[in-house]
Amino acid sequence: MKNRGMIAIAHRGASAWAPENTVAAFDAALEVGCRAVEFDVRLTADGVPVVIHDETLERTTNGKGRVAETNWLDILRLDAGSWKHPRFAGSRVPSLEEALQAISPCAQPVIEIKVPINPSMVISLLTRYDILTDAVVMSFDENILASLRAENRKVVLFQLLDSWSPKAVRSCRAAGITGVVMKFDQWALDRAMMAKELMPHVWAYDVNDPGAAAACGAMGLDGVITDFPDIVRARAEA
Ligand code: G3P
Ligand code: CA
Repeated sequence: MKNRGMIAIAHRGASAWAPENTVAAFDAALEVGCRAVEFDVRLTADGVPVVIHDETLERTTNGKGRVAETNWLDILRLDAGSWKHPRFAGSRVPSLEEALQAISPCAQPVIEIKVPINPSMVISLLTRYDILTDAVVMSFDENILASLRAENRKVVLFQLLDSWSPKAVRSCRAAGITGVVMKFDQWALDRAMMAKELMPHVWAYDVNDPGAAAACGAMGLDGVITDFPDIVRARAEA
């Protein structure tokens, strides 16, 4: 993965304007020229990787219960759009493969894995779509990233950090992780400088206004994850 200056990554698609983690939100991000789109992956009861943030279905669909206890065919029937606005009625929870189909022809998929997953399934899918060295796979769970690295030495892995830890960043480097991602309010110039010495890619998430994007630029970060890619992108990529 090349360093292309600072990029704005659409968080769960253009999630301020369209229902998060749906093809409608991915399309909205692509329409405003986003070069990268983040989304979240969980597993259904029958082992299908699906794109949804929460452990449970209630907030973003008309379903009930845990994703991990619901089969794919039942998730497929749910409306994942009406909660945002009636005009999105009929939007579905995409599978991981459907998300890659929507995003990868135009932009870089940034795949956050929320739960332990069969690493060979992820690597096969990225290989099939010819995006093994272009897509980013990230997680808060270092064990998930370690399992992916053990499966394939080329896949691009970023560690999400809950809080600043120089020790964790050094461990990431030793583990073949090439990026760290942390919430905007956790970054400071000295932290960013240290991270950049160790990592090719240093990103912030929760960057939802142009001022925050400018602050990330001043710290030398190279990626900002935002719900408002239309607003933040112009400042981030200027
Ligand atoms: O991209 C990082 C960010 O997505 C992590 O937090 O809760 O929005 O998945 P969350
Ligand atoms: Ca996420």
